[in-house]
Amino acid sequence: MSVSSSASSSASSSVEITVNSPDQMRELGRRLAKLLRAGDLVMLNGELGAGKTTLTRGLGEGLDVRGAVTSPTFVIARVHPALGDGPPLVHVDAYRLGGGLDEMEDLDLDVSLPDSVVVVEWGEGKVEELTDDRLHVVIHRAVGDTTDEVRHVTVTGLGERWAPPVELGVLSA
Ligand SMILES: Nc1ncnc2c1ncn2[C@@H]1O[C@H](COP(=O)(O)OP(=O)(O)O)[C@@H](O)[C@H]1O
Ligand SMILES: [Mg+2]
Repeated sequence: MSVSSSASSSASSSVEITVNSPDQMRELGRRLAKLLRAGDLVMLNGELGAGKTTLTRGLGEGLDVRGAVTSPTFVIARVHPALGDGPPLVHVDAYRLGGGLDEMEDLDLDVSLPDSVVVVEWGEGKVEELTDDRLHVVIHRAVGDTTDEVRHVTVTGLGERWAPPVELGVLSA
C-alpha cells in the first residue's frame, strides 16, 4: 500500500491509498474501523464492483459486529449488532433509497443512527443531511480493465469530527 496525505483547511483532510487486492481492501476496512465511533457516517462511492462492500466487510470485522457483511442489494439497510462494547454497524445501499433520508427514517431500524456507525454505499445526494461530519470514501479502479485488482481509494474527512488532531494517515500504516 502507498499513501499521500494532505490537510488543507482545518475542517477537511484527505488521504489517498493504493490497494492491490481484495484482502488489502478488507484490511483497510479493519484499519478504518479503529477510527470510527458511534454517530459516524461513512459514505462509499465507486462504480459497481469497485470494492465498497469488500471494504465494509473489513469494517464489520474491525468493529466486531455480528453477521457477515454482504451486498445489501436486496434490502435497503442491514443492522449488524455489536458483539462487544462497540457500536453496531448499519450498512445501507442507497441505490434503492429513492426518497433519501425520509425513507431511511421510515425503515424502522431497531437501532438509532447516532448510536451506530452508519456506512452508506452510493449515498451521494441522499444522506448528507444526517450530519455535517462525514467520511467520504471514493474507490477508483486503476484501469478500465475489470480483472485488474488495483484500486485507488481516497478518504476525505468533512467537518469538525475529522479536523486535526484526527490523523487519517494512520490508514496507510
Ligand atoms: N483491490 C480490490 N478491492 C476490492 N475488491 C476487489 C479488488 N480487486 C478485485 N476485487 C473484486 O471486486 C469485487 C468487488 O465487489 P464489491 O466489494 O461487492 O463491490 P461494490 O460493493 O463496490 O459493488 C469483488 O469480487 C472483489 O473480489
Ligand atoms: Mg456493494
